[in-house]
Amino acid sequence: MSTITETILDTSFKKDVYNGLTANPKFLYSKYIYDKRGDKLFQDIMELDEYYLTNSEFEILSMHKKAISELFRGNGKGIDLIELGAGDGKKTKILLSYLSENDYDFIYKPIDISKNAIDLLTADLHCELPKVRVDAEIGEYFEVLERLQQYNSRKKVILLLGSNIGNLLHPRAIDFLSHLKDTMNTGDLVFMGFDQKKDPQTILDAYNDPTGVTAEFNKNLLHRINSEMNANFDPDKFKHWEVYDPESGTAKSYLVATEKMQVNIEAIDLTICFDPWETIHTEISQKYDDKVVRWLAEEAGLSIVTSFSDANNYYKDYVFRRK
Ligand code: AVJ
Repeated sequence: MSTITETILDTSFKKDVYNGLTANPKFLYSKYIYDKRGDKLFQDIMELDEYYLTNSEFEILSMHKKAISELFRGNGKGIDLIELGAGDGKKTKILLSYLSENDYDFIYKPIDISKNAIDLLTADLHCELPKVRVDAEIGEYFEVLERLQQYNSRKKVILLLGSNIGNLLHPRAIDFLSHLKDTMNTGDLVFMGFDQKKDPQTILDAYNDPTGVTAEFNKNLLHRINSEMNANFDPDKFKHWEVYDPESGTAKSYLVATEKMQVNIEAIDLTICFDPWETIHTEISQKYDDKVVRWLAEEAGLSIVTSFSDANNYYKDYVFRRK
């Protein structure tokens, strides 16, 4: 990379777009889907019947809120309830209202990369659950994990709902879990959602809805590059494509170029050529089973305390502690 190029790549978004689109095969990171429009599209996805993940976890939290809250109980000093990737908090509210109604002493600390999501959530909680003490933060997981180290005066429960860990391949998931472990003291817990392996068709349907919301969500990467980097992608000339490998449990999303094209990304001084049917890999959504989760936890120095699943066994929330 030349020095001129380096000075143009002044944000990690620009760097990642440059590296991903000059690589072979091309890729983009799914975390960049989530701007204001991307957040809204993800909320629409969560309303889809096909996207069973949200309903399954909603069911788990509703059915087991009492048992889950018992696990969260502190040792007299109350707890810090920290949620990574809080989003719109729709599922978390089940727990928050139960904890609040049952006079648990806790502070809720939602953390998200999207300022937009955090602003909406804070305002919403203020109206709906005015008794809950909220102390929100904007930030990326790893950066926030560093800061979490300071929360060590009382029991800490770290929530990660929605199977967001599925965006990481196993080695990065282990790395993430082991960073998480480093922030934990004895007695602290992690409560984390892992979407389960199931009929491959059910999984494909969840990422291939007939109304095309998921396709729009995936293509939001291109919209975002267009608007933030003055590029001229034609999103209509890309096809959303989903594959699922039932052996590895990995679902992968692609944007496939339907014809030969040239795209100019002015802000990073880059012209990229697409051959017909050339791909951009955009997202992975990993599916798990108990064996794999136990292995990931073990590798990271965590152990499973217990787990909760929905009636279909589509989805599981696991509770971890330090080994
Ligand atoms: C928010 C990462 C859990 O992978 O299922 C939904 C994002 N992508 N539909 C997932 C998503 C396509 C979602 N996560």
